[in-house]
Amino acid sequence: MAVILAIESSCDETSASVCVDGAILSNIIANQTVHEQYGGVVPELASRAHIQNIVPVVDAAIKKANETYSARLTTHHSPFTIHDIDAIAFTQSPGLIGSLLVGAQFAKSLSLALDKPLIAVHHMQAHVLANLIPVAKPTFPFLCLTVSGGHTQIVVAHSPLRLEIIGETIDDAAGEAFDKSAKMLNLPYPGGPLIDKHAKQGDPKAFKFAEPKIPGLDFSFSGLKTSVLYFLRDEKLKDENFIEKNIDDLCASVQYTIINILMKKLKKAVDVTGIKQVCVAGGVSANSGLRDALKAYGEKYKWQTFIPPFEYCTDNAAMIAITAYYKFLAKEFTGLDTSPTARASW
Ligand code: KG4
Ligand code: ZN
Repeated sequence: MAVILAIESSCDETSASVCVDGAILSNIIANQTVHEQYGGVVPELASRAHIQNIVPVVDAAIKKANETYSARLTTHHSPFTIHDIDAIAFTQSPGLIGSLLVGAQFAKSLSLALDKPLIAVHHMQAHVLANLIPVAKPTFPFLCLTVSGGHTQIVVAHSPLRLEIIGETIDDAAGEAFDKSAKMLNLPYPGGPLIDKHAKQGDPKAFKFAEPKIPGLDFSFSGLKTSVLYFLRDEKLKDENFIEKNIDDLCASVQYTIINILMKKLKKAVDVTGIKQVCVAGGVSANSGLRDALKAYGEKYKWQTFIPPFEYCTDNAAMIAITAYYKFLAKEFTGLDTSPTARASW
């Protein structure tokens, strides 16, 4: 039996998860609300909040794991404790360096104290492997559209630890396109989920925004940002309440354009690779329009589609735990002299 405790602290969520032989027993996530008033994540405040959250979050993850474990067993067993852990995993990169340091330092200290091996995990690899958490999972090779606040990638997963990036954004990420558009629409940070909410009541074809013409499987979202900016500037000159009056249609139209950009490239990736098992991952995969679009493309083009449950889409430690489980099986451990890095390829 392999019991992994995983810690995620790359941005503004402090999260801990316990996984036993690839089954997630707990996934505790503490969100940091302190950033809302600043319109974006303030790195120094994020690090401080991680320091405050990390012990209670890890404690809660172990308690919850104990409950889940007890509920699954019919026979009496001794309580599940921190000493039952076989390895400690943490997010090594990419992310905010101060935030990453808190999780890495905590994991290293625990590894030293318990004398258990340490596993370093790449956050974007973990987003992809979140698709291996549910019982109904894709088989290899599969394609994954990974869309988060900092990344937009199309990945071929050949095996759990062999992932190949075949397309990515040349400028903004899809999450940034959502958040920056939301800001222009006077919506608070993070705007992605709010655009999603308004879009449900709006007409996606009410307004038309620019779609890029980028060759191959790469993405670009900076043109859309400029298109939204100039469109709003012109309309506000005619009617200063234009945004308030049309917020639902504006959100629906922006969301429709972003999804179209993503789905057209994903379709191209399926055609180029011939791989018809298609997943989404990352914070933007929580978007209801994108989830619906993936299902619709799947039905139309006969793809098998997979979408992780919401709690495994945005930042969470369960995805770090499942990735660490495969690294544990491959004996990919790291030494205590390792350091997190803000940017790193895999
Ligand atoms: O993966 P994630 O939680 O953090 C990063 O690793 O970046 O992604 C965060 C991004 C943010 O840009 C946020 O606005 C976006 O995911 N997001 C959404 C939704 N939920 C989160 N975007 C659109 N619709 C949503 N429902
Ligand atoms: Zn993420």
